[in-house]
Amino acid sequence: MQAYGDRERLDNLFREENNRYILTHPASRENHEKALGPMVEGVPMIWMSKWPGPYPVYVEHAKGAHFTDVDGNMYTDFCLGDTGAMCGHAPDPTVKAVQNQIAKGSTFMLPTEDAIASASLLAERFGLPKWQFTLSATDANRHMLRYSRHVTGRSKIAIHDYCYHGTVDETFAVMDDAGNTVPRRDNVGKPIDLKETTVVIPFNDLEAAERAFATGEVAAMLMEPALTNIGIVLPQPGYLEGMQELCLKYDVIWILDETHTISAGPGGMTRKYNLQPDAVVLGKTIGGGVPVGAFGLTQELAMRIATSTNLESIDIGGVGGTLAGNALSMAAVRATLSEVLTPKAFERMEKLAELWVANVQQVIDEFELPWQVSRIGCRGEYSFRATAPITGREAADADDFELQQYLQLHAINRGILMTPFHNMALMSPATDEEDVAHHHAHFREAVEALYRD
Ligand SMILES: Cc1ncc(COP(=O)(O)O)c(C=O)c1O
Repeated sequence: MQAYGDRERLDNLFREENNRYILTHPASRENHEKALGPMVEGVPMIWMSKWPGPYPVYVEHAKGAHFTDVDGNMYTDFCLGDTGAMCGHAPDPTVKAVQNQIAKGSTFMLPTEDAIASASLLAERFGLPKWQFTLSATDANRHMLRYSRHVTGRSKIAIHDYCYHGTVDETFAVMDDAGNTVPRRDNVGKPIDLKETTVVIPFNDLEAAERAFATGEVAAMLMEPALTNIGIVLPQPGYLEGMQELCLKYDVIWILDETHTISAGPGGMTRKYNLQPDAVVLGKTIGGGVPVGAFGLTQELAMRIATSTNLESIDIGGVGGTLAGNALSMAAVRATLSEVLTPKAFERMEKLAELWVANVQQVIDEFELPWQVSRIGCRGEYSFRATAPITGREAADADDFELQQYLQLHAINRGILMTPFHNMALMSPATDEEDVAHHHAHFREAVEALYRD
């Protein structure tokens, strides 16, 4: 949709930013030209070609809330690897633990003491006693879906309209206008008709959830406690508690994917709202920049799984990964949770996000924009609609790709990196008030250029 009316002005502004980018990023351009030879679209993963501008910024080094590119441009980083670097770049305790472990060997197919410490820290924070580790949140979600189908004997997964849980086949579905499950736009090589695997329900709609669960076909409800990947969509009062009750009533495994909503605090929204999910999924953050994912289970679910799997075939049952639980990621998780992502750090990060939100709101008020800003702990996001969205569909309908690309590129040209394909900002333990003020200045300037008479 087009949230901004003057498309000619938007085109011109974007062109100006593009020219400015080209002038200030010659070394990134040189790298990109070389990269077009050996890599598809000249990027290591295809979605990186979606960054605004003619080619991506090449990073030279990063520390804390900042990084420098190969042209010597310096940036305040609010993208933070879309949560992968929420701890700040290269946090000292994690770097030290990783250096120490890699010198002693990184992967053995055997556990290390760090795994016990890491699992114990997560159990304490999220209130779930049993943990497993993977290499990514995607893997953790995939494994949870398999286990859920396995222990319930049911075939389908329920998800929210416009959710994102990583590259998990069952989740690339949306609802059409008649409420049917259909593949999400441009779903690449879907293995099977999504109707066979998935039921889609709107966020904040308990009646739709109950209708889906009452069919007896649903093994698991996989959800973020607040949507974060289509802009932020917060739960209405009672929604999460209601979902918990429905899952209990229909023996549906309730999986809270807290990969992003861990921004709410050390134990995510699970702990903040005293929720009792059957499973929690994590990833990105907890390794302080080292790839790792995790899922936590209740004692009861862990028992259901243990008593229904066979030792002899446990390695070829569809749950695993040779590098899962490797010594390097376990050392990283232990150091990150105990020394970087501390409860005290979260308090600071949340205060900065409050300030970021207040600054954005000030600009919205000054220019009387029909935009809104929402927050989950240390994560904030503005969207191009007047009120906070209640469903994923409402949030999706407020999207304006060209407007977003302009704001993103304007930010990059002023030394600010925002989460791509979003208007989202994340605070790290290393972010400070000056960084937040830096964003305020860019945002006001970008908006003024759009709305000045
Ligand atoms: C809520 C959520 N779950 C899972 C994932 C997948 O994470 P990864 O790509 O690191 O596997 C993402 C990625 O953005 C996410 O936002």
